[in-house]
Amino acid sequence: MVWKLAQSQRKAGLFVAPGNAGTARWAVNADLDPMNFAQVKEFVIEHAVDMLVVGPEEPLVKGIVDYFQADVNFRDLIIVGPCKAGARLEGSKQFAKDFMRRAGIPTAAYRAFGRGEEHLAKDFLRTLRPPYVLKADGLAAGKGVVIASGLAEAETCVEEMLAGHKFGAASEKVVIEEFLCGVELSVFVLTDGTGYRILPEAKDYKKVGEGDTGLNTGGMGAVSPVPFADAVFMKKVEEKIIKPTLGQLKAEHIPYSGFLFIGLMNVAGDPYVIEYNVRMGDPETEAVIPRIESDLVDLFIALHEKRIGSAELKIRPAYAHCLMLTSGGYPQSYTKGLEVKGVEGLLPETCVFHAGTCLDKEGRICTDGGRVMALTSLADTLPAAMEKTYAEAEKISFDKMYYRKDIGKDLCR
Ligand code: AMP
Ligand code: GLY
Repeated sequence: MVWKLAQSQRKAGLFVAPGNAGTARWAVNADLDPMNFAQVKEFVIEHAVDMLVVGPEEPLVKGIVDYFQADVNFRDLIIVGPCKAGARLEGSKQFAKDFMRRAGIPTAAYRAFGRGEEHLAKDFLRTLRPPYVLKADGLAAGKGVVIASGLAEAETCVEEMLAGHKFGAASEKVVIEEFLCGVELSVFVLTDGTGYRILPEAKDYKKVGEGDTGLNTGGMGAVSPVPFADAVFMKKVEEKIIKPTLGQLKAEHIPYSGFLFIGLMNVAGDPYVIEYNVRMGDPETEAVIPRIESDLVDLFIALHEKRIGSAELKIRPAYAHCLMLTSGGYPQSYTKGLEVKGVEGLLPETCVFHAGTCLDKEGRICTDGGRVMALTSLADTLPAAMEKTYAEAEKISFDKMYYRKDIGKDLCR
């Protein structure tokens, strides 16, 4: 996002909080905690910031937008991101499911249970067929979903979740839902609450191992566009999901401005909502944003002025292939602080998006997280984009570097 904002015709000055070795190339990294709203406010005043783009969900769910809107001094500040009420679409799984039910939006059948309702939860489990999908109601950094293959495992899991042993306060309530069988896809909408533009869709690869095996991760790669999301499918997404979602937000007097990320399952040609997120996705952003030709600052201004519905959105008709380079051991334990070599040897057209990196005292790039950096290539076909990224990945090295060799393979025919 920072890389794209830095390309704006408006030549905006950019600050990133907290940033990493990659954002330092395009912006000034600010040593700020996005959850410390008072600190962010002070910074906005000191640097006369005109636009505040809230990237992650946590400050949105905690109400950073409401915090600024409550102060008349910030009436002209452009804020990208929904207020607390809208952010509940991500902040509470039960709220999101009840909201979908009220709007008649296709989603898996479900029920929600709180503490003391363990026996009801178990009764409900017995009405479902395996595998069982159990979700912590609150934010759990993308880790709050358990898919249990057997009933006994599901029952133990419900008990652990409700007792707070598994995801802490996030699982004081648990949503149990029907398992949907299909292929997943992420759809992104930029909306001012009334008008909207649908951004390019993407497919994320969540499992750590090739052939979608092993533990869940934040995402090991992404591809955009998604071949099965053709015009007929996307029309269904727009009519059955996007319009009813925005209509329901309006009906419930929930103002919404910013990104809405809809996680979908394609069940035999029909889209079902798995989840809402109130932000962009990672690593989908690294495949979607390079395909957007329009100026992102202009789009954010259009959002603020409530004319996003008629704003121009130019999309590059190319395939984007994004590959995540990770620390060996991720998503479990791994070593940090390893030097990353080879970045300077990459082709100029390869996008290098840092995630868990930092600069050491000598200014060398070092690993600082599980997902270290994403490489994105664009080409006219998906196989050509894949070939480029994989050739580029070979130029990068750090101790125990790992990446999946099959990102995008399932979509090539
Ligand atoms: P979520 O955090 O809600 O996106 O769930 C994490 C992952 O669990 C999703 O990306 C899906 O792979 C899987 N998942 C969630 N809900 C379902 C469901 N109802 N049926 C099948 N898989 C699901
Ligand atoms: N890639 C999934 C997410 O950002 O939640």
